[in-house]
Amino acid sequence: MDMESRKEVQLVYSSALKEMEIRLEILNDEFQHVHQYNPIEHIKARIKTAESIEKKLRKHGYEPTVENMVKHVNDIAGIRIICSFTTDVYRIAQMLERHRDLDIIYVKDYIKKPKRSGYKSYHMLVSIPVYLSEKKVEAKVEIQIRTVAMDFWASLEHKINYKFAANVPSYIKEELSECAKMVSELDAKMLSLNEEVKALELE
Ligand code: GTP
Ligand code: MG
Repeated sequence: MDMESRKEVQLVYSSALKEMEIRLEILNDEFQHVHQYNPIEHIKARIKTAESIEKKLRKHGYEPTVENMVKHVNDIAGIRIICSFTTDVYRIAQMLERHRDLDIIYVKDYIKKPKRSGYKSYHMLVSIPVYLSEKKVEAKVEIQIRTVAMDFWASLEHKINYKFAANVPSYIKEELSECAKMVSELDAKMLSLNEEVKALELE
């Protein structure tokens, strides 16, 4: 892949990411204004490195061309939205679905249907328009929305997988699965506690 095309790809995807971040900030600010409450705890955005993109392409048997990366790598631009409560996750997703210029390519709800590992998160792959000087292009952004507790679990599991080069001993897998259950319980409990407190405030 030549340097020029690499730079162009990077520019387009980082613009798409900026655009997404601004939209989320606006939603969060407006929500704060209307409900005196922030559905978003924090946001992490990242662009996949060129090395990591090439690695992913080769792993799937594709040559590292610009065409292949645009077509086959969905997470060049990635944004992770961390919320306090599960209800906020769906609230954010719903608000994004109302953006008419966002093309939702797919949704994977690993909260309703967690992965076998215990991984929970709400994923959306969207394509967002980016206006350049001469043309409009579309760029894919992978959005992951999850609670603080789900995020805590995912980052530990990721670290463990990395450490064992994916050959995680089964007793550790079981412990992780146990933790995943606790994450769900904690999320449910925190949500109901919050609802209870909100109900008191209304009285
Ligand atoms: P890739 O994993 O990116 O090749 O795509 P996929 O087709 O498997 O999509 P999926 O939506 O399952 O995963 C996309 C991203 O979600 C991954 O790159 C991770 O960041 C995250 N993810 C998915 N599954 C897990 C998991 O079991 N554990 C952790 N920690 N993260 C996961
Ligand atoms: Mg995967």
